[in-house]
Amino acid sequence: MQYIYIKTWGCQMNEYDSNIISSTLKKKKYKITKKKKKADILILNTCSIREKAQEKIFHQLGRWRHLKKKKKKIIIAVGGCVAEQEGKKIYKRANYVDIIFGTRSIQNLPKIIKLAKKKKKIIIDIKQKSIKKFKYAPLNTKKKKAIISIMEGCNKYCSFCIVPYTRGKEISRPYEEIIQEIQNLANIGVKEITLLGQNVNAYYDQQKKKICTFSNLLMLIAKIKNISRIRFITSHPIELTNDIINVYQKTPKLANFLHLPVQSGSNEILKKMKRIYNIKYYKKLIKKLISIAPYIQISSDFIIGFPGEKKKHFLETIKLIKYVNFDFSYSFIYSPRPGTKAFKIYDQTKQSKKKKRLYILQKKINKQVINWTNNMLGTIQRILVQEISKFNIMQLMGITDNNRLIHFYSKKNIIGQVTYVKIIKIYKNILLGILINKNI
Ligand code: SAH
Ligand code: F3S
Repeated sequence: MQYIYIKTWGCQMNEYDSNIISSTLKKKKYKITKKKKKADILILNTCSIREKAQEKIFHQLGRWRHLKKKKKKIIIAVGGCVAEQEGKKIYKRANYVDIIFGTRSIQNLPKIIKLAKKKKKIIIDIKQKSIKKFKYAPLNTKKKKAIISIMEGCNKYCSFCIVPYTRGKEISRPYEEIIQEIQNLANIGVKEITLLGQNVNAYYDQQKKKICTFSNLLMLIAKIKNISRIRFITSHPIELTNDIINVYQKTPKLANFLHLPVQSGSNEILKKMKRIYNIKYYKKLIKKLISIAPYIQISSDFIIGFPGEKKKHFLETIKLIKYVNFDFSYSFIYSPRPGTKAFKIYDQTKQSKKKKRLYILQKKINKQVINWTNNMLGTIQRILVQEISKFNIMQLMGITDNNRLIHFYSKKNIIGQVTYVKIIKIYKNILLGILINKNI
């Protein structure tokens, strides 16, 4: 029996990939261990979206080198976005690495590992084009919700972003495969599906004469009995077309919540970022969304301190945050990524100033998050019941469309069901609800 230890950095996409790595290897009789000392194969699944990921990698590999000194047969494999981008360069700095595999080479791992053991020389498998790996995605049914990747890669080339270089061009999975997978999940009790992709709106599958766009896919999923709630991440504003927005009207199954990264509130900065829309467009989009789904809540991603960002640009971002009334959002200080267009732009703003701006922005958003929560008092919310409450064993806990945790008393064990609660009390960290007699 061979043991595998996997360390994952970064986004949901990477976590998803790591799950595929484990299920691919488990099928070949490998066992996953949480103890690296027990492992025969150490896998590092890396991320390069921000920060000096390369350095972080070499620190980690340095620690694993010591393990290899003690146990010579250990195989060290580096995968993910840094592997995809750096390839052989990783081996040049850390010549004890045995395998470098890209984001689309996961399905080859059993073969590669076998080869690495035999050959005792570095194996590099990157720049693959197909997305066969998704065939090996595990049916993860924990807590009755599952994440399913529907497409990978990005063609947008925002000037700050490394993703198109590490994840490759947009490729969509065949819709029949996705529907079958979700049907299988529904059959074993999964109630909520999150569709995952760098840019899910760009989903497009053509099989002979049949075309399936993202809105078509959403409607097909909505037809699956027992799937009660559908979420998706991430959307690019430019591809959030009317037909997608209209799905909110066609099915109540879409969560009343949308993550729609805007990055900046300044047209000048958006242009430099190559985001291909302006604020007028974004605001119009929000208006359209609200006209179709009046209770929708929007979250976003922001980059602070993009080269050339002055105080006036930052204030425009703050203005937009107020206008849209964004709920919980992600915000990051701009991190120059080698190989991207923005990398070469001269950046005059001091880091301390950027940190200050980030603080102001996050404080503003946090206030709005609290307001959104407070306004839930007295409302009826749809929840997926997750587990027994951590605070009171007589209570259960469920998650709303807008990702709030609701605790409520229930005589029956309804874990795994989608139901409705009325919010009756809002404490600092807890929302209390009562069950409402309305089932879907
Ligand atoms: N659609 C993608 C977005 C990828 S990156 C997805 O969700 O998978 C996620 C977020 O990271 C971006 O929206 C952006 O806000 C941030 N980001 C990307 N590159 C960055 C950089 N160089 N510096 C700081 N933040 C960055
Ligand atoms: Fe990155 Fe822009 Fe695509 S942020 S993932 S290049 S949409």
